Amino acid sequence: MSTAPAGSERNGPWWDVDFGGLADRQRYKLLAGLVVPRPIALVSTLSASGVRNAAPFSFFNVVADEPPTLALGIGGAGTEERPYKDTLQNILDTEEFVVNLVDEALLDAMNVCAIDFPPGSDEFAEAALEPAASRQVAAPRIAAAPVHLECRLSATVPLGDRGRLLVLGEVVHLHVRDGVVDPDTLDVDLAALALIGRLHGRGWYTRTADWIEKPRLTLAAWRARDRT
Ligand SMILES: Cc1cc2nc3c(=O)[nH]c(=O)nc-3n(C[C@H](O)[C@H](O)[C@H](O)COP(=O)(O)O)c2cc1C
Repeated sequence: MSTAPAGSERNGPWWDVDFGGLADRQRYKLLAGLVVPRPIALVSTLSASGVRNAAPFSFFNVVADEPPTLALGIGGAGTEERPYKDTLQNILDTEEFVVNLVDEALLDAMNVCAIDFPPGSDEFAEAALEPAASRQVAAPRIAAAPVHLECRLSATVPLGDRGRLLVLGEVVHLHVRDGVVDPDTLDVDLAALALIGRLHGRGWYTRTADWIEKPRLTLAAWRARDRT
């Protein structure tokens, strides 16, 4: 028996899916499985009472360079007493966070940070992560990460009514491990950076060590293409 979602149908070479007919899990599977690879933010925060927290988020990207802005999509925690995940609660309380980018060496520790620890747990201790003091925010950085982006909360946008929020943060300070960025040209050495990206489903990741070069075209070059 077909378990294809209600409202989905074959349409020539396409399989068309009406999102209105999807269950939560089906929406997640399709979006998170098709929009890949996604960068991973290992977000470190402090609670209002000063407890350290770290958790990974792949509904994440940079969305503007002026003002320098990152976006995080943080899901609800699912209960009335605790509507928000600790990361989100901490960001709302302190208006600060640090995005630590995840390289291959950090994968295991990142996976520990994704465990659903009870509120008040210190994921730095659970995952044996060494903290480093930030320069402009109180939340600590994760020393082992190759890049840290200190951020101040700029805006939140509620998504639905189950505690999910889009968080926009302005980058106020950057730390990059030596050898990743050329300080004169600002060129990035991707092999030295060795970030991982999130793929479909739970538990699948990709390395970013495979590149395609495709120089951007100018309008003049495009128009001149037949004459060369
Ligand atoms: C690679 C990876 C990416 C994740 N991305 C997200 C995400 O974008 N949004 C989200 O709400 N949860 C995401 N999670 C789940 C959270 O990390 C998880 O719920 C975590 O326990 C939240 O911790 P906190 O309550 O300390 O904030 C992701 C988990 C993994 C392993």
